[in-house]
Amino acid sequence: MPAQTAPLTARHSGPLAGRLRVPGDKSISIRALILGALTVGKTGVSGLLEGDDVLNTAETLRALGAVVERTGKEQWLVCGVGIGGFAAPRDNLDFGNSGTGCRLMLGAVAGCPITATFDGDASLRKRPMRRVLDPLERIGARTLSSADDRLPLTLAGARDPIPIVFKPPVPSAQLKSAALLAGLSAPGETVVIEAEATRDHTEKMLSHFGADVRVVPEGECGRRITLAGQPELSPRPIVVPADPSSAAFPLVAALLVPGSEVILEGVMMNPLRGGLVTTLGEMGAVMERLETRDEGGEEVADLRVRAGPLRGVEVPAHRAPSMIDEYPVLAVAAAFVEGTTIMRGLKELRVKESDRLAATVALLRGNGVEVEIEGDDLIVHGKGRAPGGGTVATYMDHRIAMAALVMGLASEKPVTIDDGAFIATSFPGFVELMRGVGADLS
Ligand code: S3P
Repeated sequence: MPAQTAPLTARHSGPLAGRLRVPGDKSISIRALILGALTVGKTGVSGLLEGDDVLNTAETLRALGAVVERTGKEQWLVCGVGIGGFAAPRDNLDFGNSGTGCRLMLGAVAGCPITATFDGDASLRKRPMRRVLDPLERIGARTLSSADDRLPLTLAGARDPIPIVFKPPVPSAQLKSAALLAGLSAPGETVVIEAEATRDHTEKMLSHFGADVRVVPEGECGRRITLAGQPELSPRPIVVPADPSSAAFPLVAALLVPGSEVILEGVMMNPLRGGLVTTLGEMGAVMERLETRDEGGEEVADLRVRAGPLRGVEVPAHRAPSMIDEYPVLAVAAAFVEGTTIMRGLKELRVKESDRLAATVALLRGNGVEVEIEGDDLIVHGKGRAPGGGTVATYMDHRIAMAALVMGLASEKPVTIDDGAFIATSFPGFVELMRGVGADLS
């Protein structure tokens, strides 16, 4: 956990210019380590995000008996213990700020005959875990203790895991992934039926390691994922592409700071992560895909972004899973639009690293932007400019911190955040990278 708070201030900047590559994708990095640990043999990972969320997951895997080593900058090696092979840890597993690390590892441990206590920082201790415990208990794991279905939580993994059919009650890749990871230990087929498709990195990576995973469309925008249990996972190298959720911050900054032109290198274009780019396109953003290629089984592109006027749009609720982490920075962009932007169906934002709906509203209001919540919808009344001048409470939430700083680069008066320390959970080097293209951050 970051030791002390680190206030940061963003000031109105001159045009941002240059090329940059944001760090590796957080979702893929965490999955690479976990699946590497469930494989027998050595898995090399390149481009791993060396952010606190990933490093904490690495530490928990070591505590469970896997070898996880850094061999160079963003180069890692995992020596796995195989499915069901985790050893009981001596101490609590500390996931820090990471909901993804914690929930996926609950799934991985649920399929092993061991008992482990899961814990995290003050933010993670507030987040709901019942949603993930329900399918894991059906598979055969037992929750031995938990504070109101929150961390710290002790889980006894299943001795004889049972394959289940699971319909996640909310669209969540974390829930889907936890059920699939636990299902690896069960004989027979584990099926997850999603009403709305969520990021598919777990399914893709399981196939990459040789598991039999079938994915077919379900209903209007859902998917049925069928995993054949007890596969032999064989090690295969993993290349982690640049994180589109991190790229969102320099992307929006370049759109908002007049005169900017920035090239974002190698951004992952997975359609299930593409909601922000789609939405910004509808808002009239000038973005160009310069070169498209394949990196580690994902399409990536260099994106050229130019500043320009944006218009207000209505973002449909069904798009939320493909841009769930991008709403705070989209709301900042909406403040600079002449007109109203309506973002529908944001209930899940209330249970992220902070109550992101409330934190986003406070971020905007504190900087002179008119905004309201109606039910689960966020409505921003843009005036083509934002006064700024506020100090934003970040509530241990990296994305609120970075969104507020992006606002400060384009607002009239500076924007200060109370604590930039949590930016390191997903985007180490954010300040330096942004300064490198001309952002006034200190
Ligand atoms: C993630 C899934 C999303 C997202 C999180 C990463 C993942 O959470 O917000 O940052 O890697 O599976 P939910 O599954 O809870 O929507």
